[in-house]
Amino acid sequence: MSTFSAKDGRQIEVRPATIEDAEGIISFAKILFPSTNQVLTLPEEYKISIEEEVLFIESYNSNPTALLLVAVFDNTVVSLLNFKCGEKKKIQHSGEFGISVHPAFQGIGIGRQMITELLNWAKQKPQIEKIFLNVFHTNPSAINLYKSLGFKEEGRMQKAAKQPDNTYADMIYMSRFMNE
Ligand SMILES: CC(C)(COP(=O)(O)OP(=O)(O)OC[C@H]1O[C@@H](n2cnc3c(N)ncnc32)[C@H](O)[C@@H]1OP(=O)(O)O)[C@@H](O)C(=O)NCCC(=O)NCCS
Repeated sequence: MSTFSAKDGRQIEVRPATIEDAEGIISFAKILFPSTNQVLTLPEEYKISIEEEVLFIESYNSNPTALLLVAVFDNTVVSLLNFKCGEKKKIQHSGEFGISVHPAFQGIGIGRQMITELLNWAKQKPQIEKIFLNVFHTNPSAINLYKSLGFKEEGRMQKAAKQPDNTYADMIYMSRFMNE
């Protein structure tokens, strides 16, 4: 889709994932999950095989209202964004995304660029009226990023997640309407 200069000058490619990225995405996930407690998946819960990852990528690429984006630097996947609209008719006008950036590449503009690419792609799809996400209340930098891209807090589920250390995180639901 595009190549952009990150804040540290590195040239980062952002494009839809292909099945050739399956191994790179798995390697990325194996670095990401142990690096953060701001996502739902625990490292030991991530057990996907290359074959399963290929099917996952294909399920996005065969769905016109789904998008799986990777950011790549030096043949390494450094960010992943997945977006999918609801499957049932009543919720096909809206979709949820999740995003993560490699710990060694955070804070240099990749997350912002990935979400901007998602929003530009969604603007070309009249069916997509609303984009939403869920984020832990303990993740202020992500919440700041989403707010700066036009997402607003709509609701909050208290103590929705319990961390391994028995602390809780509220889940904040944020959304953006495409016609705003
Ligand atoms: C949250 C995450 C996706 C953001 O991506 P990123 O590439 O690190 O963020 P960017 O460099 O694009 O930063 C964009 C904005 O985020 C905010 N931000 C980033 N780091 C911040 C920090 N340490 N403190 C406050 N705000 C911060 C700023 O508003 C920044 O705005 P700017 O572009 O004007 O500087 C990424 O850090 C990540 O994957 N974290 C671990 C997993 C995770 O939390 N995923 C999200 C779950 S909902």
